[in-house]
Parts: sequence; structure tokens; C-alpha cells
Amino acid sequence: MATAIATADQAESVEYAARIEHVSKSFGGPAGQQLVLDDITLDVAPGEFVTLLGASGCGKSTLLNLVAGLDDPSAGSIKTDGRPALMFQEHALFPWLTAGKNIELALKLGGVPKNDRRTRAEELLELVRLQGSYGKRVHELSGGMRQRVALARALAQESRLLLMDEPFAALDAITRDVLHDELTRIWEETGLSVLFVTHNVREAVRLAQRVVLLSSRPGRIAREWTVDIPQPRRIEDAPVAELSLEITEQLRGEIRRHGQQ
Ligand SMILES: Nc1ncnc2c1ncn2[C@@H]1O[C@H](COP(=O)(O)OP(=O)(O)O)[C@@H](O)[C@H]1O
Ligand SMILES: [Mg+2]
Repeated sequence: MATAIATADQAESVEYAARIEHVSKSFGGPAGQQLVLDDITLDVAPGEFVTLLGASGCGKSTLLNLVAGLDDPSAGSIKTDGRPALMFQEHALFPWLTAGKNIELALKLGGVPKNDRRTRAEELLELVRLQGSYGKRVHELSGGMRQRVALARALAQESRLLLMDEPFAALDAITRDVLHDELTRIWEETGLSVLFVTHNVREAVRLAQRVVLLSSRPGRIAREWTVDIPQPRRIEDAPVAELSLEITEQLRGEIRRHGQQ
């Protein structure tokens, strides 16, 4: 079978998981061209966990879609170490398939031989702590469980880079807390690189090694912070709260500046 996700050795042999160089993006509309992203340069190192933080509408999803290759930049270039896996706020699971079969579909598309798929799907369900849920249909699963299956399906793609667009934004606070713990554990176990988009400052600080703040209209990199707080962190830990406050003030400044334009 193809190797599972990224091993530390593989991760060390490449220079970057994603390299975003001088990327701009405009969309055409009735009022003419709108510049959404302006000259973004950002590397995600192999095995690194980066959160991209910014106000609603600042271009986070646009940037993630460009990194995913779903759209092309208007200027600049994007390179990734292999094809990234994606996870969104909406789980986008096929409702007519069971949890296990949803994962197997991703394995099939990834070229995993038929005879290996069931075992691998069970392993992935175990990794997201859903052992025993192979035969469950999507409507039988809670919101948190659905996002676990979506995560397992993303991991099934054996990408070295995982792109996440506000994947826990629709969950209640306690479920989100638990999924933060799971994601941290899985990231540490697999050596994956993660680029995680959120508008939630505490979530950004809870998860990341590095928080990158985007300004609004156009989206530019306003500032970044290295987060040295040891994992596992809790969202209510004093150092998390302290850094979140500092970042929130900066974010407020960005929003005010935008409001005055
Ligand atoms: N396909 C598109 N066509 C036109 N405008 C778009 C398109 N996609 C996004 N936009 C615009 O780009 C801006 C940033 O959107 P988005 O990246 O979704 O923001 P965020 O994810 O940070 O909330 C918004 O003003 C949005 O209307
Ligand atoms: Mg978005």
C-alpha cells in the first residue's frame, strides 16, 4: 500500500509544504475589478501548523482556494508539496454513503487497491476516534462526528499538506474544544503541514505554531506571531488568552482602518 500520510523523513526532504509568492487576486464585478488579495508572500514549512486569521470577507477562503488549486492567482505563484487535502466548514460527505464508504471513496480516488480500502478506512476512523462507526450513515452522526469523518476522509488522501477552512466554525464550543485536541494530536502523530483558516483569534492561538493576520480590502499580511506556548494548550490558558488579546487589538485596528476607507 502507498505510504500513509507524511512521515517525518519525507517531510524533511522538501523545503516547503506551500510556497506563496507575491500572490494577488482580483475578481471582476459590475463595479469593475475588485482587488481581494494584494501581494501575499507566505511559506508553510514541512510539518508546520499555520493559522491564517482575518475578518470576514478579507480573502481567507480565496487564498486557501488558490493554494488548493481550485482557482488561479491574478499575479504571483503558488507551489505545494504534492496535492493538498481540503476540509471545509460544511462536511460535504455523501449522505447516501456510510462513514466508512465516504472514506473509502477518497482512498479509491487516491489509487488504494480495493482489498486494502476497508482496513485503511477502519484505521482512519480509529485515528479520529470513531472506531465502530464504519457502517453509520451521515444522518446518524452528530455535527462533531461528521467533521471527524470529514477529517478522516481528508487524511485518506495521503497529502502532506492539509488545508482547513473554518472547519469547526459551526460546532458548539465544547465539541470544538475536543476537536482542537484531536487535531493537535493527529498533527503531532502524522507530521502533516496544516494551513488553517479562521476568524476566531483564540482558535488560531490554541492551534498554531504561527498566526498570520490578514488585513481587509485588500487582504495583505498585516503581521504574524510565533506561538511558543507548549501543546497541549487549552483555549482558556492564561498565555493563550494573553496573546489572543494582543492579536485581537491588532485585528480591531485592521477592521477600524478598513471602516474608515
Ligand atoms: N468567485 C468570486 N467572484 C467575485 N468575488 C468573489 C469571489 N470569491 C470571493 N469574492 C469576494 O472576495 C472577498 C473575499 O472573500 P472570501 O475569500 O470568501 O473571504 P473570507 O473567507 O475571508 O471571509 C469578498 O468580498 C467576496 O465577495
Ligand atoms: Mg471564508
